[in-house]
Amino acid sequence: SGTSYEFIQVSRPRPGVAQVTLHRPKALNALCTPLITELNAALAVLNSAADVGAVVLTGSERAFAAGADIKEMAPLSFSAAYTSAFIESWSALTTTLKKPLIAAVSGHALGGGCELALMADILYCTFGANFGQPEIKLGTIPGAGGSQRLARAVGKSRAMELVLTGRPFSGDEAARWGVAARAFPTHAELMDAALDTAETIAGYSRVAVMAAKEVVNKSQDLPLRDGVEYERRVFHSLFGSRDQKIGMAAFVDKKKPEWSHE
Ligand code: HXC
Repeated sequence: SGTSYEFIQVSRPRPGVAQVTLHRPKALNALCTPLITELNAALAVLNSAADVGAVVLTGSERAFAAGADIKEMAPLSFSAAYTSAFIESWSALTTTLKKPLIAAVSGHALGGGCELALMADILYCTFGANFGQPEIKLGTIPGAGGSQRLARAVGKSRAMELVLTGRPFSGDEAARWGVAARAFPTHAELMDAALDTAETIAGYSRVAVMAAKEVVNKSQDLPLRDGVEYERRVFHSLFGSRDQKIGMAAFVDKKKPEWSHE
Protein backbone atom coordinates (compact mmCIF):
# COMPACT_ATOMS: atom_id res chain seq x y z
CA SER A 1 0.00 0.00 0.00
CA GLY A 2 3.06 2.23 0.32
CA THR A 3 2.18 3.18 3.89
CA SER A 4 5.10 2.78 6.24
CA TYR A 5 4.74 2.40 9.95
CA GLU A 6 7.13 2.87 12.87
CA PHE A 7 5.94 0.12 15.23
CA ILE A 8 4.37 -2.50 12.95
CA GLN A 9 5.13 -4.23 9.66
CA VAL A 10 2.54 -5.28 7.11
CA SER A 11 3.23 -7.98 4.54
CA ARG A 12 1.37 -10.31 2.16
CA PRO A 13 3.01 -13.72 2.72
CA ARG A 14 0.33 -15.85 1.01
CA PRO A 15 -2.45 -15.35 -1.55
CA GLY A 16 -5.30 -13.53 0.16
CA VAL A 17 -3.40 -13.27 3.45
CA ALA A 18 -2.04 -10.18 5.19
CA GLN A 19 0.39 -10.43 8.08
CA VAL A 20 0.71 -7.66 10.65
CA THR A 21 3.84 -7.99 12.77
CA LEU A 22 4.21 -5.95 15.96
CA HIS A 23 7.70 -4.50 15.73
CA ARG A 24 8.92 -2.54 18.73
CA PRO A 25 11.74 -4.92 19.68
CA LYS A 26 13.49 -2.69 22.23
CA ALA A 27 10.40 -2.71 24.45
CA LEU A 28 9.31 -6.32 23.73
CA ASN A 29 6.43 -4.90 21.68
CA ALA A 30 4.97 -2.96 24.62
CA LEU A 31 1.73 -1.54 23.28
CA CYS A 32 2.16 2.23 23.41
CA THR A 33 -0.68 4.40 22.08
CA PRO A 34 1.11 5.22 18.78
CA LEU A 35 1.52 1.47 18.13
CA ILE A 36 -2.20 0.85 18.68
CA THR A 37 -3.02 3.82 16.42
CA GLU A 38 -0.89 2.29 13.67
CA LEU A 39 -2.41 -1.15 14.21
CA ASN A 40 -5.93 0.27 13.88
CA ALA A 41 -4.97 2.22 10.75
CA ALA A 42 -3.45 -0.90 9.16
CA LEU A 43 -6.47 -3.04 9.98
CA ALA A 44 -8.82 -0.44 8.49
CA VAL A 45 -6.83 -0.58 5.24
CA LEU A 46 -6.83 -4.39 5.22
CA ASN A 47 -10.54 -4.49 6.01
CA SER A 48 -11.35 -2.71 2.76
CA ALA A 49 -8.64 -4.42 0.65
CA ALA A 50 -10.50 -6.63 -1.83
CA ASP A 51 -7.56 -9.02 -2.16
CA VAL A 52 -7.31 -9.77 1.57
CA GLY A 53 -9.42 -12.56 3.04
CA ALA A 54 -7.76 -13.12 6.41
CA VAL A 55 -5.19 -11.46 8.65
CA VAL A 56 -2.46 -12.93 10.86
CA LEU A 57 -1.32 -10.81 13.81
CA THR A 58 2.01 -11.74 15.34
CA GLY A 59 5.04 -10.41 17.20
CA SER A 60 8.56 -11.76 17.43
CA GLU A 61 9.74 -15.15 18.61
CA ARG A 62 10.63 -13.54 21.97
CA ALA A 63 7.50 -11.47 22.50
CA PHE A 64 4.04 -11.18 21.04
CA ALA A 65 3.63 -8.16 23.34
CA ALA A 66 4.82 -7.61 26.93
CA GLY A 67 1.77 -5.52 27.79
CA ALA A 68 0.54 -1.99 27.62
CA ASP A 69 3.42 0.48 27.89
CA ILE A 70 4.12 0.76 31.62
CA LYS A 71 6.28 3.86 31.13
CA GLU A 72 3.40 5.60 29.35
CA MET A 73 0.86 4.57 32.01
CA ALA A 74 2.96 5.25 35.11
CA PRO A 75 2.21 9.00 35.41
CA LEU A 76 -1.39 8.88 34.14
CA SER A 77 -4.13 10.43 36.35
CA PHE A 78 -7.68 9.14 36.66
CA SER A 79 -9.09 12.19 34.91
CA ALA A 80 -6.59 11.97 32.05
CA ALA A 81 -7.33 8.26 31.55
CA TYR A 82 -11.08 8.83 31.79
CA THR A 83 -11.39 11.87 29.57
CA SER A 84 -9.02 10.55 26.88
CA ALA A 85 -10.83 7.16 26.93
CA PHE A 86 -7.45 5.49 27.47
CA ILE A 87 -7.40 1.92 25.98
CA GLU A 88 -10.84 2.39 24.40
CA SER A 89 -9.31 2.58 20.93
CA TRP A 90 -8.03 -0.99 21.41
CA SER A 91 -11.55 -2.28 20.89
CA ALA A 92 -11.33 -1.17 17.25
CA LEU A 93 -9.57 -4.49 16.77
CA THR A 94 -12.81 -6.30 17.44
CA THR A 95 -15.14 -3.82 15.73
CA THR A 96 -13.30 -2.55 12.63
CA LEU A 97 -12.06 -5.80 11.18
CA LYS A 98 -14.80 -7.92 9.62
CA LYS A 99 -12.30 -10.43 8.25
CA PRO A 100 -10.93 -13.24 10.41
CA LEU A 101 -7.95 -12.34 12.57
CA ILE A 102 -5.57 -15.09 13.68
CA ALA A 103 -3.17 -14.26 16.51
CA ALA A 104 0.10 -16.21 16.34
CA VAL A 105 1.66 -15.92 19.78
CA SER A 106 5.25 -16.78 20.63
CA GLY A 107 7.13 -15.62 23.73
CA HIS A 108 5.56 -13.10 26.12
CA ALA A 109 1.88 -12.21 25.86
CA LEU A 110 1.40 -10.38 29.14
CA GLY A 111 -1.21 -7.93 30.37
CA GLY A 112 -2.44 -5.98 27.37
CA GLY A 113 -0.49 -8.40 25.15
CA CYS A 114 -2.54 -11.29 26.48
CA GLU A 115 -5.70 -9.22 26.08
CA LEU A 116 -4.82 -8.33 22.49
CA ALA A 117 -4.32 -12.03 21.70
CA LEU A 118 -7.67 -12.85 23.34
CA MET A 119 -9.40 -10.36 21.00
CA ALA A 120 -8.37 -12.40 17.94
CA ASP A 121 -10.85 -14.74 16.28
CA ILE A 122 -8.44 -17.67 16.43
CA LEU A 123 -5.45 -17.91 18.74
CA TYR A 124 -2.47 -20.13 17.92
CA CYS A 125 0.67 -20.21 20.07
CA THR A 126 3.88 -22.06 20.80
CA PHE A 127 3.89 -24.50 23.73
CA GLY A 128 6.42 -22.23 25.38
CA ALA A 129 4.45 -19.00 24.97
CA ASN A 130 4.20 -17.03 28.22
CA PHE A 131 0.69 -15.69 28.79
CA GLY A 132 -0.52 -13.87 31.86
CA GLN A 133 -2.40 -10.99 33.43
CA PRO A 134 0.26 -9.59 35.79
CA GLU A 135 -1.49 -6.22 36.33
CA ILE A 136 -2.17 -7.03 40.00
CA LYS A 137 1.59 -6.93 40.60
CA LEU A 138 1.60 -3.32 39.33
CA GLY A 139 -1.26 -2.27 41.59
CA THR A 140 -3.88 -2.36 38.85
CA ILE A 141 -6.15 -4.73 36.91
CA PRO A 142 -6.67 -5.84 33.30
CA GLY A 143 -8.16 -2.98 31.28
CA ALA A 144 -8.63 -4.30 27.75
CA GLY A 145 -11.17 -7.05 28.35
CA GLY A 146 -8.86 -9.67 29.90
CA SER A 147 -11.01 -10.39 32.95
CA GLN A 148 -14.10 -10.87 30.79
CA ARG A 149 -12.58 -12.83 27.90
CA LEU A 150 -10.47 -15.07 30.16
CA ALA A 151 -13.48 -15.87 32.34
CA ARG A 152 -15.46 -16.88 29.24
CA ALA A 153 -12.53 -18.92 27.90
CA VAL A 154 -11.39 -20.74 31.04
CA GLY A 155 -14.24 -20.37 33.55
CA LYS A 156 -14.53 -18.15 36.61
CA SER A 157 -12.35 -19.97 39.12
CA ARG A 158 -9.33 -20.30 36.84
CA ALA A 159 -9.71 -16.71 35.54
CA MET A 160 -9.96 -15.49 39.13
CA GLU A 161 -6.79 -17.37 40.06
CA LEU A 162 -4.88 -15.93 37.08
CA VAL A 163 -6.07 -12.35 37.58
CA LEU A 164 -5.66 -12.34 41.39
CA THR A 165 -2.22 -13.97 41.51
CA GLY A 166 -0.81 -12.64 38.22
CA ARG A 167 0.77 -16.04 37.67
CA PRO A 168 1.70 -16.71 34.07
CA PHE A 169 0.39 -19.65 32.08
CA SER A 170 2.09 -21.47 29.23
CA GLY A 171 1.02 -21.93 25.64
CA ASP A 172 0.61 -25.60 26.48
CA GLU A 173 -1.90 -24.69 29.23
CA ALA A 174 -3.58 -22.16 26.91
CA ALA A 175 -4.23 -24.92 24.37
CA ARG A 176 -5.42 -27.42 26.98
CA TRP A 177 -7.85 -24.83 28.43
CA GLY A 178 -9.19 -23.77 25.04
CA VAL A 179 -7.72 -20.25 25.18
CA ALA A 180 -5.67 -21.26 22.16
CA ALA A 181 -7.10 -23.36 19.35
CA ARG A 182 -3.73 -25.08 18.90
CA ALA A 183 -0.15 -24.95 20.16
CA PHE A 184 3.06 -25.82 18.30
CA PRO A 185 6.60 -26.84 19.30
CA THR A 186 8.42 -24.07 17.43
CA HIS A 187 7.93 -20.51 16.22
CA ALA A 188 8.41 -21.66 12.60
CA GLU A 189 5.70 -24.31 12.89
CA LEU A 190 3.41 -21.78 14.56
CA MET A 191 3.81 -19.29 11.70
CA ASP A 192 3.34 -21.97 9.02
CA ALA A 193 0.13 -23.17 10.66
CA ALA A 194 -1.25 -19.65 11.18
CA LEU A 195 -0.55 -18.75 7.55
CA ASP A 196 -1.98 -22.08 6.30
CA THR A 197 -5.19 -21.49 8.24
CA ALA A 198 -5.41 -17.89 7.01
CA GLU A 199 -4.86 -19.06 3.41
CA THR A 200 -7.56 -21.71 3.76
CA ILE A 201 -10.04 -19.12 5.05
CA ALA A 202 -9.03 -16.60 2.37
CA GLY A 203 -9.87 -19.28 -0.23
CA TYR A 204 -13.56 -19.28 0.70
CA SER A 205 -16.33 -16.85 -0.16
CA ARG A 206 -15.69 -13.53 1.63
CA VAL A 207 -19.42 -13.12 2.16
CA ALA A 208 -19.78 -16.51 3.87
CA VAL A 209 -16.59 -16.06 5.91
CA MET A 210 -17.66 -12.65 7.16
CA ALA A 211 -21.09 -14.00 8.10
CA ALA A 212 -19.55 -17.01 9.86
CA LYS A 213 -17.28 -14.78 11.95
CA GLU A 214 -20.21 -12.53 12.80
CA VAL A 215 -22.47 -15.33 14.03
CA VAL A 216 -19.77 -17.08 16.10
CA ASN A 217 -18.98 -13.74 17.75
CA LYS A 218 -22.66 -13.30 18.62
CA SER A 219 -22.41 -16.45 20.75
CA GLN A 220 -20.22 -14.47 23.16
CA ASP A 221 -22.85 -11.77 23.67
CA LEU A 222 -26.29 -13.34 23.22
CA PRO A 223 -28.33 -15.89 25.18
CA LEU A 224 -28.52 -19.23 23.30
CA ARG A 225 -32.07 -18.82 21.99
CA ASP A 226 -31.34 -15.35 20.58
CA GLY A 227 -28.00 -16.51 19.19
CA VAL A 228 -29.56 -19.47 17.38
CA GLU A 229 -32.25 -17.20 15.94
CA TYR A 230 -29.61 -14.68 14.86
CA GLU A 231 -27.64 -17.45 13.16
CA ARG A 232 -30.74 -18.65 11.29
CA ARG A 233 -31.55 -15.11 10.05
CA VAL A 234 -28.04 -14.69 8.68
CA PHE A 235 -28.15 -18.23 7.23
CA HIS A 236 -31.41 -17.37 5.43
CA SER A 237 -29.88 -14.14 4.11
CA LEU A 238 -27.01 -16.05 2.49
CA PHE A 239 -29.50 -17.58 0.02
CA GLY A 240 -29.39 -14.08 -1.44
CA SER A 241 -25.66 -14.34 -2.17
CA ARG A 242 -24.19 -15.44 -5.50
CA ASP A 243 -21.57 -17.52 -3.71
CA GLN A 244 -24.16 -19.82 -2.13
CA LYS A 245 -25.38 -20.67 -5.65
CA ILE A 246 -21.80 -21.03 -6.90
CA GLY A 247 -20.73 -23.21 -3.96
CA MET A 248 -23.67 -25.61 -4.07
CA ALA A 249 -23.70 -25.84 -7.89
CA ALA A 250 -19.98 -26.68 -7.81
CA PHE A 251 -20.65 -29.51 -5.36
CA VAL A 252 -23.44 -30.91 -7.51
CA ASP A 253 -21.25 -30.62 -10.66
CA LYS A 254 -18.22 -32.10 -8.84
CA LYS A 255 -16.18 -28.96 -9.64
CA LYS A 256 -14.10 -26.54 -7.60
CA PRO A 257 -16.10 -23.38 -6.81
CA GLU A 258 -14.89 -20.09 -8.34
CA TRP A 259 -16.08 -17.59 -5.77
CA SER A 260 -17.49 -14.26 -6.87
CA HIS A 261 -17.29 -12.86 -3.32
CA GLU A 262 -20.80 -11.57 -3.92
C1 HXC B 1 7.15 -0.79 28.80
C2 HXC B 1 8.47 -2.67 28.72
C3 HXC B 1 7.36 -3.49 29.01
C4 HXC B 1 6.10 -2.86 29.19
C5 HXC B 1 9.08 -4.74 28.78
N1 HXC B 1 9.51 -3.49 28.59
N2 HXC B 1 7.78 -4.77 29.05
N3 HXC B 1 8.35 -1.33 28.62
N4 HXC B 1 6.04 -1.51 29.08
N5 HXC B 1 4.99 -3.56 29.42
C6 HXC B 1 10.87 -3.04 28.29
C7 HXC B 1 11.76 -3.08 29.51
O1 HXC B 1 11.56 -1.94 30.29
C8 HXC B 1 13.11 -3.13 28.87
O2 HXC B 1 13.46 -1.83 28.46
C9 HXC B 1 12.89 -3.95 27.62
O3 HXC B 1 11.48 -3.91 27.36
C10 HXC B 1 13.30 -5.39 27.78
O4 HXC B 1 12.66 -5.92 28.93
P1 HXC B 1 13.43 -6.71 30.09
O5 HXC B 1 12.57 -6.62 31.30
O6 HXC B 1 14.82 -6.25 30.19
O7 HXC B 1 13.44 -8.20 29.49
P2 HXC B 1 13.40 -9.57 30.30
O8 HXC B 1 14.34 -9.51 31.48
O9 HXC B 1 13.62 -10.62 29.27
O10 HXC B 1 11.93 -9.70 30.90
C11 HXC B 1 10.82 -9.83 30.02
C12 HXC B 1 9.50 -9.58 30.80
C13 HXC B 1 9.58 -8.24 31.54
C14 HXC B 1 9.27 -10.74 31.80
C15 HXC B 1 8.39 -9.61 29.77
O11 HXC B 1 9.99 -7.23 30.62
C16 HXC B 1 8.29 -7.82 32.15
O12 HXC B 1 7.90 -8.32 33.20
N6 HXC B 1 7.61 -6.84 31.52
C17 HXC B 1 6.39 -6.27 32.05
C18 HXC B 1 5.26 -7.23 31.86
C19 HXC B 1 3.96 -6.66 32.42
O13 HXC B 1 3.85 -6.39 33.63
N7 HXC B 1 2.98 -6.43 31.54
C20 HXC B 1 1.71 -5.91 31.94
C21 HXC B 1 1.76 -4.44 31.81
S1 HXC B 1 0.29 -3.71 32.46
P3 HXC B 1 14.87 -1.14 28.87
O14 HXC B 1 14.73 0.25 28.34
O15 HXC B 1 14.99 -1.27 30.34
O16 HXC B 1 15.86 -1.98 28.12
C22 HXC B 1 -0.81 -3.85 31.22
C23 HXC B 1 -2.15 -3.20 31.48
C24 HXC B 1 -3.14 -3.62 30.49
O17 HXC B 1 -0.59 -4.40 30.19
C25 HXC B 1 -4.42 -2.89 30.71
C26 HXC B 1 -4.92 -2.18 29.52
C27 HXC B 1 -4.50 -2.68 28.21
